[in-house]
Amino acid sequence: MLGIIGGSGFGEFPGLALESSEPINTRWGKSSAPVRVGRLGAQRVAFLARHGDGHVLPPHRINYRANIASLEAVGVKQIVAVAAVGGIAPDCQSGCLVLPDQLIDYTEGRAHTFFDGEDGKVVHVDFTQPYDQALRERLIQAAARVSEPLFVGGTYGCTNGPRLETAAEIRRLARDGCTVVGMTGMPEAVLARELGLPYASLCVVANAAAGLGAEPLSMDAILAVLRTAMSRAVRVLVQVVKDEPLCAAAGR
Ligand code: HPA
Repeated sequence: MLGIIGGSGFGEFPGLALESSEPINTRWGKSSAPVRVGRLGAQRVAFLARHGDGHVLPPHRINYRANIASLEAVGVKQIVAVAAVGGIAPDCQSGCLVLPDQLIDYTEGRAHTFFDGEDGKVVHVDFTQPYDQALRERLIQAAARVSEPLFVGGTYGCTNGPRLETAAEIRRLARDGCTVVGMTGMPEAVLARELGLPYASLCVVANAAAGLGAEPLSMDAILAVLRTAMSRAVRVLVQVVKDEPLCAAAGR
């Protein structure tokens, strides 16, 4: 089953015929919201609102371990995480969909591993390629099928938030090679890797990153862009789900 994590502007999955909606208690605590399992056509899908119902959790207060563990507990085998981001690369303008292939973690103080050594085991997962290539391919194909332009590749820089960045921080991220900037991609991606769950991030550019746009950043403007752009991300996701049997038949 595919698990979808919805970010800002994507608090529920339209068209999901709900079968169950359970608050899940994991050994890491409670997920941001109940994991909603339902059908989209013939396929079962699990949806989780990363910021909680009503968008109440800021990025640094999200229990990322509980979220990933909850999706695994309901039988999720791969995760597409949707995230609002600021655009840094000139090709990533507001409204653009981006499928990064790399990330840089600038966060601090987050519970960022399932392997914190409590059980006397030292585990170092390979994270050379943070996103799953086969899942990315499925997203690329789905976007092409529904004719949604997708910026493929690039680096997601994950800042701690909840404040937005300074112009100098964005210049530094650009020098580091970041294409987009968001606040929730880590530790989400590495926790999925630690549990062996293929994970890809479908980013929606909500604004030009700090210092790159004409206007000062405002939450209202960001949410206004997300309201329309998220529906395009949803079209891609619905197509990914529709294509699932084809992928299974192709042995992936
Ligand atoms: N920076 C960080 N996170 C974001 C931004 C941004 O400009 N826009 C949406 N999420």
